[in-house]
Amino acid sequence: MKNSLIILAALAVMGMTGTPAIASDAPDGAKIFKKKCGMCHKIDKKKVGPAVKAMNQDAEMLRSVIVNGKKMMPKYSGKLSAEEIDAVVTYIKEQQK
Ligand code: HEC
Repeated sequence: MKNSLIILAALAVMGMTGTPAIASDAPDGAKIFKKKCGMCHKIDKKKVGPAVKAMNQDAEMLRSVIVNGKKMMPKYSGKLSAEEIDAVVTYIKEQQK
């Protein structure tokens, strides 16, 4: 638990500065999803937004919606770094398997 708190703190710092604190500290897509997306997206149930399993299968389409937003879906450009968005896309792809 302590470790995950440190990672969350590191993510918070990265979010504020927009630059990765430590390059080797790859962002954790699952954590970002839980924190930023979980209020609207569930893995296999529709909530405010579509279920992860029902989302587009194409990584570039996913990335584009996350970066630019779509209707009720907020845009995350400027809120998440490219590395964080990559991590979330990877997480979504893993859940769709
Ligand atoms: C305020 C609620 C809300 C939050 C927070 C939110 N989303 Fe969404 N999201 C939506 C809604 C609503 C849609 C459907 C948009 C539409 O097409 O009308 C959507 C659509 C999407 C899509 C497109 C799915 C597809 O098949 O085209 C992706 C990908 C997505 N969200 C990922 C995320 C990720 C990743 C996060 C967190 C970084 C996130 N969302 C946070 C509400 C939200």
